Order: sequence, then structure tokens, then C-alpha cells
Amino acid sequence: MGMLNANALKIAIFGSNCSGGLALTTVPERWRATWEENVELAKLADRSGLEAMVPVGRWKGFGGETDFGGVSFETITWACGLLSETTQISVFGTVHAPLFHPILAAKQIVTADHIGRGRFGLNIVCGWNVDEFEMFGVAPLPDRRYDYGQEWWDVVRRIWSADAAFDFDGEFFRLKKVRSQPRPRQGDRVMMMNAGSSPAGRQFAIRNSDFHFDVCRSLDGVAERVRETKRMAREHGHDIQVFTPAYVVCRSTQREAEDYFQYFAVDHADEEALDHMVGMGAATHESMSTEFLRQFRANAAAGYGGNIGMVGDPDRVAREMIAAHDAGFDGLAIGFVNYLAELPFFLDEVLPRLERVGLRQPVASDAP
Ligand SMILES: Cc1cc2nc3c(=O)[nH]c(=O)nc-3n(C[C@H](O)[C@H](O)[C@H](O)COP(=O)(O)O)c2cc1C
Repeated sequence: MGMLNANALKIAIFGSNCSGGLALTTVPERWRATWEENVELAKLADRSGLEAMVPVGRWKGFGGETDFGGVSFETITWACGLLSETTQISVFGTVHAPLFHPILAAKQIVTADHIGRGRFGLNIVCGWNVDEFEMFGVAPLPDRRYDYGQEWWDVVRRIWSADAAFDFDGEFFRLKKVRSQPRPRQGDRVMMMNAGSSPAGRQFAIRNSDFHFDVCRSLDGVAERVRETKRMAREHGHDIQVFTPAYVVCRSTQREAEDYFQYFAVDHADEEALDHMVGMGAATHESMSTEFLRQFRANAAAGYGGNIGMVGDPDRVAREMIAAHDAGFDGLAIGFVNYLAELPFFLDEVLPRLERVGLRQPVASDAP
């Protein structure tokens, strides 16, 4: 079921709770992220055997013409709604550890887990967006983010496993007579992902997570890192699956796909939001050639600041997904400019190609 099924290459839908999704673009068909669209998308993904819906925990838009991400659903309540509307798919919710007290979060997560009958997954984010922290009036802890996250997660785990009320006397939390019921349906925890990419962030994922979402802009040299992540998790006594986020532009012909990429990610990029996201410093660095800069910005506009892109006809997109699996990835978290308009073609054309090479099982025809 969902993320716990046996498919060798899992596919999650990423970012549909936020306006723009993964694409910083002004094209009129860009993603609006209404509730009705999210429900329709989750039901389609569920029927089609996709493994998960992964939202982005976003509190504030990135400005620009479209205020990218400015309309967004809070992710745990979003997940509860979608879990009620689906039967198989896992739905994740994001918690910014510094913004949610762990006792409150533990209760919300357990509630979502029960609503989803064990299909809720947690994404722990330790925070990177200073704007958002300022909006909350919370000072970021630049060097200690993941130390705080570790203690936060230790509290949550303890809540879910303690047989009696306990006191917690840590560096960041001093708590008295803590108790909370019920326990998660999934056991003494819920499945957990983390997408830290700094050394401390990756180590946090390796120590604690079931899934590490590891951003890469190309597959070159990635296999070694993925192997290492899995080896290090085993040394900590558990297995970890490694995913990467990817934007997908799939059309009948290679030419059509590339033309559409040029249209939404270059000709109609939301330049101001893009500047905000990638930072003017990085995006106009003098050492970057004009061509490199153009590609860098186009990729960032298409893929939420810079994920791997899969742009092409169904053969090409399937080949690139197979290559991601060959590099060691267990799954992809994908986005489209307009999820509902584009996902059906992907499901009809790319999924069967992945099934034919054994990376995915077809959905049983009597499935709900
Ligand atoms: C798949 C994925 C999902 C993420 N979800 C969120 C999110 O919901 N909210 C957020 O503020 N950051 C999110 N991030 C950012 C990461 O949690 C992390 O902070 C970022 O990759 C930088 O790594 P670092 O924290 O180790 O520096 C996400 C990143 C990825 C790749």
C-alpha cells in the first residue's frame, strides 16, 4: 500500500498544495492549487497506483508576478482531507520543527495517521526560509537546526512509545509529565521523510528517516552518494529509501516537450520570484557563462529552484526515469506545470513503459 508497496521505482506527486506547484512561471495554465483540484488529483493518483502525495510546507509566497506559492494549504490538514478521499495512496504532511511544538505536532500527526488508517507520512523540515521565520517572529538557529530537529523528533518518538507520563529535560525542551494517546496505527512511529541536503541535514535523514529526498540537478556522480546514504543508514540499524524530486514535461514528441519547456520556463518564467528563490548572487554570478546562467535559471524556474528535469516524449521520459532507478533512486517526487492537465498523458504513456521493464506493477483492474 502506498509508500510501503514493492514497486522498485515509486512515484509521488510533489507540490500540488501550493500555487505554481514546482514551476515559477506566469503561463495562464499554471497551477492554482484549489482544493477541488487537489482532491481530483489525489483521486487520480490513487486510482493509478502512484505511491504518495508530497506537499510543500509553505507559509508565504515568493513574490513576483504570480507570488509563487502564495496560495498554499497547510499540509497536515490538507493530508487529512486527501486521506479521507483516497484508499491506497500515502499522503505526507510537513512539519517545520521550530514552528510546531512537539506535543501539538505528535497529536496532529497521530490524528492524521488514524484518519488515513496508517497512510500518513511525515516530512520533518528544520527550516531554511528566513522570510518565513521572520514572519513568525522565530529566530532561526543557523548552526543548530538539525540538533533542534533531533531533539524535537526524540520528544515525538518518546510520546509515541512511553508507557507512562514522562519528564523531558533536554537542551531545547523541558517538559513535565508528558502523556498523549492514542499511539500511531503504524506502530511506535509514522513513516518519515526528510530532505536535508547540507551535511547535517543528510545525516539527520540517515539517522532517523525512512526516506531521504535527495535533490540532484543531473544524475552524474549521484550513484555513489545514494549508495553511501543507504550504507550509512544500515550502519544505524535501518534501511532507507532515497528519492529525488523531478519536474516532468512529457508530450507526444520530443520537439513539443522542448518547445513547452522553453515557453513556460524561459519565455514566461516569473523572473522576480525566481530571483527571490535562487538569490540574485547565485543567479548572476560573474563566473557563470551566459549559456550556463540561462540553463541554470530555466531549470530553476521549471523545477522549484533546481531539480532534475525529465523533458521529452514518453520514451525519453521513461528512459530517464529508468536511469534514475539505475543510479540507485527508489522513487521520484514529480511535478507538472498543470498537474491535472498533464498527469493523464504521463499515466497512459510512461507508466506502461516502466511496467514493461519491471520497475512497477500494473494496478489490478479490480482495484478501487
Ligand atoms: C522533496 C523536498 C521537500 C521539501 N519540503 C519542504 C517543505 O515542505 N518546506 C520547506 O520549508 N522546505 C522543504 N524542503 C527543504 C528541505 O527540507 C531542506 O531544508 C533543503 O533541502 C535544504 O537542506 P538543508 O536543510 O540540509 O540545508 C524540501 C526539500 C525537498 C527536496
